[in-house]
This record gives sequence, C-alpha cells and structure tokens, in this order.
Amino acid sequence: CGIVAYIGEREAYPVILKGLKRLEYRGYDSSGVALLNGGGLKVYKKQGKVAELEENLVGKDLHAHIGIGHTRWATHGEPCDRNAHPHLSKSGKISMIHNGIIENYAQIKQDLQKKGYVFTSDTDTEVLLNFIEDIHLNNGGSLEEAVRIALKRVVGAYVIVLLDEEHPDTLIAARKGSPLVIGIGKGEHFLASDASPIIEYTKEVVYVNDYELAIIKADELILKNLGNEKITPFITKLDMELAAIEKGGYDHFMLKEIFEQPHTIFDCLRGRLDATNGTITMSGIQQYAEQLTQAKRIIIVACGTSWHAGLVAEYIFEEVTRIPVEVEYASEFRYRNPVVGEGDVIIAISQSGETADTLVAIESAKEKGAIILGVVNVVGSSIARTSHGGAYTHAGPEIGVASTKAFTGQLAVLTMMALKIGHLKGTLSEKRYTHLLNELNDVPEKVALALEQKDHIEALALKYKDATDALYLGRGYNFPVALEGALKLKEISYIHAEGYPAAEMKHGPIALVDDKLPVFFVATKDSFHEKVLSNMQEIKARKGKVIAIVSEGDDAANALADDLITVPFADELIAPMINAIPMQLLAYYIGVAKGYDVDKPRNLAKSVTVE
Ligand code: G6P
Repeated sequence: CGIVAYIGEREAYPVILKGLKRLEYRGYDSSGVALLNGGGLKVYKKQGKVAELEENLVGKDLHAHIGIGHTRWATHGEPCDRNAHPHLSKSGKISMIHNGIIENYAQIKQDLQKKGYVFTSDTDTEVLLNFIEDIHLNNGGSLEEAVRIALKRVVGAYVIVLLDEEHPDTLIAARKGSPLVIGIGKGEHFLASDASPIIEYTKEVVYVNDYELAIIKADELILKNLGNEKITPFITKLDMELAAIEKGGYDHFMLKEIFEQPHTIFDCLRGRLDATNGTITMSGIQQYAEQLTQAKRIIIVACGTSWHAGLVAEYIFEEVTRIPVEVEYASEFRYRNPVVGEGDVIIAISQSGETADTLVAIESAKEKGAIILGVVNVVGSSIARTSHGGAYTHAGPEIGVASTKAFTGQLAVLTMMALKIGHLKGTLSEKRYTHLLNELNDVPEKVALALEQKDHIEALALKYKDATDALYLGRGYNFPVALEGALKLKEISYIHAEGYPAAEMKHGPIALVDDKLPVFFVATKDSFHEKVLSNMQEIKARKGKVIAIVSEGDDAANALADDLITVPFADELIAPMINAIPMQLLAYYIGVAKGYDVDKPRNLAKSVTVE
C-alpha cells in the first residue's frame, strides 16, 4: 500500500492526490483521502485506481490544509469501497491510514466486539484504529499516548497516520516494518511511503525508524520512541530529480525503464569498474573483503525478479570464487529456522529495499551473527539501512511494477562483487579477470544494440500474443534468464508461462508441447550451446513453435527455430544482462497488444511491504 499525508499552507487534496498517483505502483485495488477543515472530517474512498477516486470527487468541497491519503493493495478483505482506507473510528472523529498487517487483530477485534464495537470493514486497520480510540477514551490521556499504548500491544508491521478532528493542526504517525518518509518544507510537512510524492516540494527528508512515533504540525516535527523519549530527527538530502519519476515521452514507465538500461548499467559500473587499470572499487564490499574471501558459504535471499538475479549470481559466484552459494526465497528462509550464524555472508537483493520478507530474513540472520550485504536500488531504504555493507544498483527510480532495469543493475553489481572476490581470493585467473572486466565494460553498448531489435520483437509479440501458455528454456547462466522471461510474460500479459532448465523440460513440461505452444529458448553461444540445440530438436520433433534468442553471427539454430531474435555475443557469465532485454521487450509488447495496463498489472504491487 502507499500512504501520503500533508499539513501546511497549501491545499492538501491536490498534493495528496498527486502523491497517491506517484505511489500507485505500491497497490491500486482502492484509494481514498480524509480531509479536515472547519466543516469537520470528510472521508472519500473508491475501489479501483486513483483516477477513479479523482473522477468521483469532481465538484466536491475538498478544501483543507491537512489530510491523509492511501492507495491499497488488499490483504485483509476484498478490494471494495468499504475496505478502502482511510478508516473512521467509531466516534467518527479520528481517521487513519495504514500500510502493513496487524497479526493479532482477530483477538483485539473480539475484545472490542465484546465491548459492543461493530465493524464496518473486514480490515485489520479498522480494528487497530478503534483499539486506539478505545484506549484514548478510557484512559483519558492524549491520542498520542493512546497510540503508544496500542502499538506496544500489537504484533505485526505497520505505518499508520492519524488525523483527529479535535486536533486539526496535528498528524500522528508511527512505523514498524513498513516505510515512512517525512518531507520537511517551510511551514509544511509531507508524509509518504517513499520520497517520490515529496521531491517536487522539498529535498530535505527524515526517514522514520521502527518503533518511532512522529507528532507533526505545520511548523514542527517531534519524533519519539515508544517509551515517550524524544529523538532528534536525522535530516537527509534527497539525491533524486523529478524527471526520474516521470514518463518523459514514453507510453509507459516500463518501456522507458527498458530503454534506460544502457544508461543505468553504465551508471552502475561508473566509478567502480576500471577495465583499463584492471580494478573494481566497491567500498561497501571491500570493508568485508576478509570475511568474504574466507566465507564458507554465501546465502542469497530475495523475492521475485531479485531472486532470479540471485540465481544468476549463484552461477557466477561459484564459478569465480569457488564459494558455495545458496539462493533462498526470503519468505521460506525466514520461517524455517535456517542454519545460519557467525561467518556466514548473506546477500540480500531488493529493488525497493522494503520487501517485508527479505527485510525480516536479514534482520534475524543479523541477530545470529551473519554479515549482511545489501544489493539495493532505493537509497536509504530499510534493507539498505539494515545491511552492514553492500552496493547500490543506481538504476534510478523504477516505477513500472514489473522489474526491468533494476534486474540488470542487480546483475551488474553482483557480477562486480563476484569478480572482485574471485580476484582477491585468487580463484579467478588474471587473464579471465581482465577479460571479464572488459566484457562488463561493453555491456551498456551491447544492451543498446539489443534494444535495436525492438520493432522485430514487437512483430513477434503480435504473432504470439494469443498463446494461452508459453515455455521459456535455458541452461546454465541462461536458466535464470528463462525464469525471468516467463515471469515477465506472466506479470504483464497474464499468459501462463513457465521457465525451466532446458534439459529438465523432458521431465514434465514436454507433455505440454503441441503445435500451438510457443517455446522461447535462450540459446546464445556458451558452453552449453550444443546441448541447448539438442533440447530445441526435442521440441521441434513435437511440433512446438520455437523462438530462439541467439548470438549474432551464430546460425546453428536457424534450421530449428520458427523465429529468431539476435543479440550481441557476450561471455556466458555476462550474457544474462543482454539476454534479458528481448525477454522484457517481448512481455511488454504482448501486454500492450492485449490492451493491458502494463505499468500496473492486476493484483500485483511493486513494493510488497507485507509478508
Ligand atoms: C514484487 C514486484 C517484483 C519484485 C519483487 C521483489 O513482487 O512486483 O517486481 O521483483 O516484489 O521486490 P524487491 O523490491 O525486493 O526487489
């Protein structure tokens, strides 16, 4: 979910509405605002995207200088007007927005029901809000105090912001687990789930930490811990430009972000990779050089596309550092009492830096003594701050819900890390190291060349858009690329797609092959090439449609494939960054051809801050 709030001289509604649109990538099942002016508290909410709320509010009196807004990704309760935020307390005097999950809400709900509370929604938010109000009314203390008492009793993750009719000059906010940024203006404050709704007004922000409570007036910000002690707010300067979060002439953010990749990868390598002098400089890694070179194993934790980047990294790390690598879904790792402790190195990969499962996974591993290195895109995010060290991907804000440029950025960082460690350890020969540095250096240019295939890929998209299923196959370094290709197609076009190791295909998916099934092969030239060609034969023999991604100048697949997509040749260790490009374009053009909202695919959210 995304949250926004404003207090100050400006009209609150336009600021909040614009902010919600910027945060829509976090969820768009429903949205709503609560505004407070002389006429009292007004709450408006609507199922669907923010534009639907906006349309619904045309002509209404929305005048206010304080307000809160929310765009929802449903957890408790179906997406509908009733379950949309902001919620109102029983008295109708307090309104609240919430991002996160209150795990013990059922017990609290029961207790309140016994006291006669009747709930109008199925959400845990309404329960927490009434719990707070109940404490407030019974204890007779301030609302701030009631919030503090309530939060000590709840289990779960949250960011909450409360708007109280009796205190029209104050917002109260608190955080545990979900992100909250406060923008500091002149006589005004902006609250949001990330900095994107804030940067056009101010670059000075405070990242609120877990277990902190903020009491915000137009010209005052007080931070406290749950023990009611004041904390000095740490003001950070945002290093982000407004243009980075706008579409800049492209039809969709996703397309813009795909096409930004030559630049984003270049930015990621810049200042770190020096192919001429044969050096890689990564201060956040070098600090842990000793632990890394001596590590008995490396555990990678991530979710979604970032997990796929982790799989590529597994192949690369094992090859060049000879350190065993395990790649874990963060959600599984955190719950199964993993064997982890002193001396273990954990690499957490996350675009947003806020994915709840990944964050909790590293928090518990950190407590057990592991060293945590973050590979994160969003600067200052929770995972970045929880990690001991690591490196940012520097891909810039990624807004399309399906990850593209963050993925190639992650691969660039992970490759540099592996080469650095392999070189330090001596498990990577000087010759191969130098060769790979040069290959890495060429990636931005090769990605730009791969992007030139855009019209051809768009034509292929039109040819295959009506498929009901698709198979993506690859071996070695290209196996995770196949997984990522299938994920992209699924997310954007809603076509059922599976990624598989090309050889493993014989043990199941081959049963799906008929003359209608498109099978996408990532078949660029590498040490597995001959074997991949044999797998292609096996599909062809069963009349499957073969679409092969091949290296320029390699015609070995010509006779086998129905369609070819050529990409520049790169060393197999580097190739995933280039081979990902046609996968992204294909999914994008199929999604567009089917008329879907590719930037906001149904049911998905970009930043999953609930477990
Ligand atoms: C969501 C997004 C994916 C992303 C995954 C992990 O599912 O839709 O694009 O790969 O979360 O997110 P993270 O921010 O941790 O990389």
